[in-house]
Amino acid sequence: MHLWMLLSWHVITAGDQEPWVAPENSAQVKNPVEAGTKSLQTGKKIYTSFCWSCHGTTGMGDGPAGAGMVPKPAAFTTSEFQNQTDGAIFWKISEGRGNMTSYKSVLTSNERWSVVNYLRTLKTE
Ligand code: HEC
Repeated sequence: MHLWMLLSWHVITAGDQEPWVAPENSAQVKNPVEAGTKSLQTGKKIYTSFCWSCHGTTGMGDGPAGAGMVPKPAAFTTSEFQNQTDGAIFWKISEGRGNMTSYKSVLTSNERWSVVNYLRTLKTE
């Protein structure tokens, strides 16, 4: 085992086991984009281009690119996930952590709010 392998392992995993909690002020931000047909269509389009590979086509966190990731890509189907505010979910998509990329410079804020609206439709429990 080379030293660089140990170091990169550390960089990838350090701190990521902690629960990921959005700051309170960000969690309280209201979603300015109504979850109408247009927003849900936009959200779905983004999800099926950028997110499914890790989070799975139905949002169960079982996408092929996420296999073996620690921590695993989140499941959006659970009430544990869905109990968060729109603001908290928006903040996580914007900021990212570890293998979860920051989408602040990839998607406009309107697009990010629309993905939040779409994630709401994936709830199953
Ligand atoms: C390369 C794989 C990958 C892609 C692509 C990806 N994610 Fe993630 N995502 C992750 C991982 C891994 C986590 C868990 C991160 C952590 O807890 O440190 C995560 C976590 C999240 C969370 C936080 C879940 C929670 O439990 O609160 C949200 C929200 C999220 N992703 C949304 C998205 C959206 C929306 C997209 C597409 C725009 C996306 N992700 C694309 C890997 C990915």
